[in-house]
Amino acid sequence: MIDAQLKSRLQKGTPLLWVNPDQIPVLMAEVPVRPAQVKDAEQNWRDLAPLLQQCFPELQGPNGAISSDLIEVATLAQVMGNDQGRHFVKGDHALPVAGSVKARGGIYEVFLYALSLARDLGLIKADDTPMALAHPDVKAAFANYTVAVGSTGNLGLSVGIAARALGFRAVVHMSSDAKAWKVERLQRHGVDVVQHDADYGSAVAAARDQADADPKTYFVDDERSELLFFGYSAAAAELRDQLRAQNIQVDAEHPLFVYLPCGIGGAPGGVAYGLKQVFGDHAHCFFTEPAQSPCALVQLAAGLTKQVNVYDIGLTNKTEADGMAVAEISWFIAQVMHPLLSGVYTVDDNDLFRWLALAHDHAGLQLEPSAAACLAGPGVINSTPEGQGYLTAHHLQNHMPNATHVMWTTGGSFVPDAEFQDFLSKGKTLL
Ligand SMILES: Cc1ncc(COP(=O)(O)O)c(C=O)c1O
Repeated sequence: MIDAQLKSRLQKGTPLLWVNPDQIPVLMAEVPVRPAQVKDAEQNWRDLAPLLQQCFPELQGPNGAISSDLIEVATLAQVMGNDQGRHFVKGDHALPVAGSVKARGGIYEVFLYALSLARDLGLIKADDTPMALAHPDVKAAFANYTVAVGSTGNLGLSVGIAARALGFRAVVHMSSDAKAWKVERLQRHGVDVVQHDADYGSAVAAARDQADADPKTYFVDDERSELLFFGYSAAAAELRDQLRAQNIQVDAEHPLFVYLPCGIGGAPGGVAYGLKQVFGDHAHCFFTEPAQSPCALVQLAAGLTKQVNVYDIGLTNKTEADGMAVAEISWFIAQVMHPLLSGVYTVDDNDLFRWLALAHDHAGLQLEPSAAACLAGPGVINSTPEGQGYLTAHHLQNHMPNATHVMWTTGGSFVPDAEFQDFLSKGKTLL
């Protein structure tokens, strides 16, 4: 049950920070996944790198990695009223191939499925490297198989593009929140798009039903998939290496705060779980959600006795942050995050456009509204009574000048120019 006072604050729709009273030290947390699985995911990504480079010419880096820059944004932080500690953007808005954090999960799952299918069909040998999937005979065989997914848009882009690159037929079921440009982009890649006049949960359910009826269809289950989760989790090691390269310490006196936009919870959950393995209790992970779609917040605040959604407390699940328009968090993610998450803060849609404009003007970033939600994190921690309460409870107040804040900008570089200009002018008007 959600506490009556919290419920009434959520119903008013004004932004707030909820601190998780059930967070415990990471070593004491019992969750349905294991740290070794993060290490396996890091290795899988390394093994896939040559094939990814072969499939996607835009992967020009030395090892073909799906990786993003860590960008210091001191001016933006100052403009947003934050001057304690250092502030960075983890730029997944510019991730290659899919233009969002979803590249980390969707590409990973599709490529690992392709490997196991090719082995099951005898198309490649058990000890062949993933590069064997590039053979034209394998691609021809994959044309008889379908990869399906339900999505608000960005996971569809990631899964659809990955599946087509390997030769599969791809079907993406889009919720009514999906933006037209995402549909068009998928269609250009030869993906079949089914548009539903319903929310994300309904699109996923329809996709699952269709996939269940066809043995040659593989369903990427955004609500339950461990493969997606671990694909995201490997981002933590990437961040660790980037912080090390800049000589940035993370320990009890140098806390790391990470702000992650949350929809169904897979992407932020996977990244946060990875961060907890890499940095332990020195990583303080906060999710952010639209004020009308705080599905992680309502579930974690209600406890894990039964599933609850945002409609249950009278919210609309209507938001311009299409990637976060999700009414009910994944039950799997709720179980993993319940003991590990520091808290969740909610944001107002108009603020998303304001921050999107500030991020453009003061850091040269092209974000979509969902991604802009992370930018409020440092201010929420520093200037709300709940944030101060969190710092006091964790004995962090004296260490805030040494803190590192990482705002995970989860999408935006693929937004077409005209659409982005609309976002920008809306943001500037609101400022
Ligand atoms: C830009 C963006 N940010 C955040 C998210 C949230 O990820 P998840 O739904 O895995 O919680 C999404 C999901 O599509 C997204 O597109």
